[in-house]
Amino acid sequence: MFNAEKFIKEIIEKLKNEITGKALIAFSGGVDSTVCAALVNKAIGDRLIAVHVDTGYMRKNESDNVKKLMEEIGLNYRFIDASKEFFSALKNIEDPEKKRKIIGEKFIRVFEKVAEDEDIEYLVQGTIAPDWIESGGELRDTIKSHHNVGGLPEFMKLKLVEPLRDLYKDEVRKVARELKLSVSERQPFPGPGLAIRIIGEATPERTNIVREACDIVEKEIEAAVENKKMEMPWQYFAVLLPVKSVGVHGDKRAYGYVIAVRAVHSIDAMTCAFSKIPNNIIDKISTRITNTLKDKVNRVVYDITNKPPSTVEWE
Ligand code: XMP
Repeated sequence: MFNAEKFIKEIIEKLKNEITGKALIAFSGGVDSTVCAALVNKAIGDRLIAVHVDTGYMRKNESDNVKKLMEEIGLNYRFIDASKEFFSALKNIEDPEKKRKIIGEKFIRVFEKVAEDEDIEYLVQGTIAPDWIESGGELRDTIKSHHNVGGLPEFMKLKLVEPLRDLYKDEVRKVARELKLSVSERQPFPGPGLAIRIIGEATPERTNIVREACDIVEKEIEAAVENKKMEMPWQYFAVLLPVKSVGVHGDKRAYGYVIAVRAVHSIDAMTCAFSKIPNNIIDKISTRITNTLKDKVNRVVYDITNKPPSTVEWE
């Protein structure tokens, strides 16, 4: 049985010994990086610098919320808007692994600059067990390269600290609850962000569409859970498919993208089952998406696959 209180005490002691200089953490505002930052902050205080990068692939209002959260925890932070660079790096890139690698690289470049400017010696990462298990290694197949596992380019010379490496997500949540962090029940959001929820090229225009659709899925599902119409899924979001299909708006022909809605139940993200959302909720989500994104989306489908054989994210 995992004991969060004991874990916290022991890891803080360990981090105090392990980190002797200044450290940097990429802060996404997800449960993993938030728990990680809070723990390291308890161990080394302002010697930890939290860096939030707005990649342009964030959810609606996400960067503002992340700023508030960093202030709430009392982190010494830097906020960097790198959206233009990310969009241009992903121009014409369609392959999911290439997208993941480029995003990972870009993140490293941004951190590298901060590390140089601030004399950083350590890089703290919120890697958890499923991340490195699925990223392959000598014994396993690479399912997908989780962007926070790629490791550091040789020349970066930062020492890697991964306090949550042996934990599964439910254990990280227990630690978050114990630390009284408001993010403890937040659904996971992948490091590469909305870029991997757009199949094919992740253009700014497509990003705006999937951002709006994701927001609708989140709001409707959260309202349904609040009204006790369904259980809270592990994760729930929208994916933009780059195929266009024919539809009709009033008496006019429409030709727009397809949005896939994905909601899954899981314990640790290693396997998952698609959520059996009540039909009227699906109906509401679909109608809101096609009304809000009238000229852009005219078809919504629901993903009814489990993991395996699918994965949670589409890319
Ligand atoms: P998959 O799609 O591999 O997702 O079944 C399992 C869980 O991991 C999240 N995910 C990521 N998290 N960096 C992250 O921090 C990544 O590159 C990444 N890719 C997937 C996914 O949202 C799900 O919760």
